[in-house]
Amino acid sequence: MKKILITGGVGFIGSHVVRLFVNKYPDVQIMNLDALTYAGNLENLRDIENAANYTFIKGDITDQDFIERLFATHDFSGVIHLAAESHVDRSIEDPLLFIRTNIIGTMNLLNACRNSWKSFEGKRFYHISTDEVYGSLGDEGLFTEATPYDPKSPYSASKASSDHLVRAYRNTYKLPVVISNCSNNYGPNQFPEKLIPLSINNLKHSKQIPVYGKGENIRDWLYVEDHADAIDRVYHQGADGETYNIGGNNEWKNIDLIRLLCKIMDKKLDRKPGTSAGLITFVKDRAGHDLRYAIDSSKISRELGWQPSLTFEEGLEKTVDWYLENNKWLHNVTSGAYVEYYRKMYKE
Ligand code: NAD
Ligand code: DAU
Repeated sequence: MKKILITGGVGFIGSHVVRLFVNKYPDVQIMNLDALTYAGNLENLRDIENAANYTFIKGDITDQDFIERLFATHDFSGVIHLAAESHVDRSIEDPLLFIRTNIIGTMNLLNACRNSWKSFEGKRFYHISTDEVYGSLGDEGLFTEATPYDPKSPYSASKASSDHLVRAYRNTYKLPVVISNCSNNYGPNQFPEKLIPLSINNLKHSKQIPVYGKGENIRDWLYVEDHADAIDRVYHQGADGETYNIGGNNEWKNIDLIRLLCKIMDKKLDRKPGTSAGLITFVKDRAGHDLRYAIDSSKISRELGWQPSLTFEEGLEKTVDWYLENNKWLHNVTSGAYVEYYRKMYKE
């Protein structure tokens, strides 16, 4: 049986990718490698954990010996690499962790592919990356695959560095690779430190929603299952050595997005219109806060036939419903060690 290694598969995006692959490719063994950091949650895949073609492996991509042993034991036909430290605010607090996981971890995987794959025929290393590597846009323009890299936070610098390593391994060792750079994802299973789930969780508990600066920063939002579909296409149909930008064509100023979310929450929680918006609180801006991200995803659309399937309103409503229905999940991930961090960041 063919084996694909997916890293970071119990995290937010990874869990949707693993579920899609396990259900869609019953003849392929999907091996999910995850260190179970604060962001990794086995609950995210309870529904498929007993599937015959699914295996979970707890392990750390920064542990070189472990990664080498793993690749010596299994002949993976491909790697879909999502494991990372993913939150910009945390990278501002602890950049070294991001360097270790996102750069060293990626290099360990690249080395393991290079050293263990006897032939590169039929093999593929797929790196899941971010639009943040391109830096920040002004009022005009979109990031294309040709936009020069200009990362501005420790997180985006670590992702840019790992992208460069992936391309360097293709150029130097002919490793078959593909990269995609995606915009902001939202949907079920996202840890409630990111803007949308944090705001839903706070509103649910009638707590303030912290909006950085004046809320004028712009992000391009994509429903996570649409990203998983794009990843499936890039993995199976993307051309060797290519990069694909993935985005929702769906730009929102943070404050406008929060106002829309507040309206949905008032309706869902049966609160008087305007109740949730009353909890909006402008707080100190993020250091070095990128102003605007916007993606030109015409290449993946033209070459691989991919399009986002949901409107933002549909996706946001589905997301709110999921968080309101999954009380236990929310409670579990917001209690314990996370509470400490959460308090430190002044978000309560
Ligand atoms: P996440 O933080 O929700 O999940 C990351 C997962 O990686 C977790 O399950 C965690 O346990 C695991 N992990 C962390 N360190 C590890 C290590 N050393 N060894 C093994 N596993 C480890 O992240 P996400 O939002 O799902 O993002 C997944 C990937 O997609 C990341 O590479 C991120 O840069 C990229 N990305 C994210 C977004 C977004 O909007 N969230 C957008 C574009 C690209
Ligand atoms: O663009 C893709 C990137 O999107 C991914 O690579 C990252 O992994 C992912 O975390 C995300 O980064 P952002 O920094 O854009 O996402 P976040 O949800 O942290 O913030 C979205 C916007 O909202 C950003 O402008 C900062 C702002 N914000 C965020 C938080 C957490 C607030 O105003 N208040 C908040 O409390």
